[in-house]
Amino acid sequence: MSYQRRNVAHLAPYTPGEQPDSEHVIKLNTNENPYPPANEVLEAISSVNGDMLRRYPQPTAEAFRQTAAKVHELSPDMIISTNGGDELLRLAITVFCEPRTGDHTRGGLAISQPTYSLFTTLGQIHDTPVTQIPLGDDWSLAKDFSDIVRHNDCRLAILVNPHAPTGCLRSLSQLEAIARQLQEHAVLLVDEAYVDFAAHDAISLLRKNNSLDNVLLLRTLSKGYSLAGLRFGYGLGHPSLIEALTKARDSYANDVISQVTAIAALEHRDQAVKTWQAVKKERSRLTMKLTERGFDVVPSESNFLLCQPAKSGPTAKTIYESLKKQGIFVRYFDQSRLCDRLRITVGQPAETDALLLAIDAM
Ligand SMILES: Cc1ncc(COP(=O)(O)O)c(C=O)c1O
Repeated sequence: MSYQRRNVAHLAPYTPGEQPDSEHVIKLNTNENPYPPANEVLEAISSVNGDMLRRYPQPTAEAFRQTAAKVHELSPDMIISTNGGDELLRLAITVFCEPRTGDHTRGGLAISQPTYSLFTTLGQIHDTPVTQIPLGDDWSLAKDFSDIVRHNDCRLAILVNPHAPTGCLRSLSQLEAIARQLQEHAVLLVDEAYVDFAAHDAISLLRKNNSLDNVLLLRTLSKGYSLAGLRFGYGLGHPSLIEALTKARDSYANDVISQVTAIAALEHRDQAVKTWQAVKKERSRLTMKLTERGFDVVPSESNFLLCQPAKSGPTAKTIYESLKKQGIFVRYFDQSRLCDRLRITVGQPAETDALLLAIDAM
C-alpha cells in the first residue's frame, strides 16, 4: 500500500550535486564561493547566546528586511526572507500556480530548458503543469517565450539570470519586455542566485514607481556571501507579491542564528564584494586555460563555466569520472543538450591549477 499522492509516487526526486565527506577534495561541482565568509559574519554567529536560542525568532525577520531594504534601496515591504532561495521557489509555485484538477492543465509553471532542475521537481510536487520552453542553439531565450507562457495560461515563469547552467546573462531590456508582456497574466520570477558575479542585476525593474507588479527577484546568501551552509535566501518584489508569499510562509522560516548571520553578511557586503572580484578574475583565467585546451566555453557571468571538451579528446563523462577518482569534483548532467559538457565551479587559483594539471594528464 502506498500512502503517497499520485504525483509524489511518480516523482523522480531532485538530485543535488555530490557533497563528499572528505575535506581533502577539490569541490567544483555545486557553485559554492571558494572563499570563506567575512570574519564579522563569523563573529555575529558567536554572539548568539542561550537566551536568544531559548525564544522563538522574530517570525518575519524584520531586522533583516530593514537591512536588506537599505542595501537594495527598496522598502522593507518589498522583501521576504526564506530558508534558502529554494524555499522562495517552493513558495512562489505554491502561491501562484494552480494544481491540476481533472483534465484541466492550465495555470501552471513555465521555465526554460535546460535550467535548474529543481523547478520541475517543485512543480511536480505541487502537481501543477510545467511548460518547458527550449533555449536556442546559442542558449538564447525563445523569441515567443511570453506568447507560449500566455497561450498555456501559465501563472508563473521562472528565468535564471545569469542563467544556470550556462552562465549567460540576459539583458535588462529583454527581462523588462517579458515582464510587461506577462503583466495581468503571470508573475515573472527572475532567479538571481548568481547575480553577484554578473555585470548587472534586475533591481531597477522594481524601482520604476512599482509599475511592474509581477516581477519577483530571488536572492541567496549561498553563493555570493559564502553561506551555502546557512540556508538563507530572500525575495524582492512588489508589496502585493510579498504579502501573498508571506501568507504561505512557515511562521519561523529563518532561525535566530541565520537571521543574525544574514544581517551581518549584508552589513559587511564590502567583504563579500572582494570575493566576487577574485572569482571573476579567476573565471577569466579558467575560461582562457580551458579554451587553450580545445574546450568550447560558454562566456559566463556567473561563478561557473559550462564547457564542452574537444571532440578529439576524452568525453565529458570520461573527464568527470577520471577527475572524481582523483578527488576533483565537477558537475556532469546526464541529460539532453548537457551530456557532452561539464559545469565547473570557479575555485581558488590553486584549485584551477590542480584541475588543469589533471586534465592535461588525461
Ligand atoms: C539557479 C538556482 N536558483 C536557486 C538556488 C537556490 O539556492 P539556495 O537554496 O542555496 O539559496 C540555486 C542553488 O544552487 C540555484 O542554482
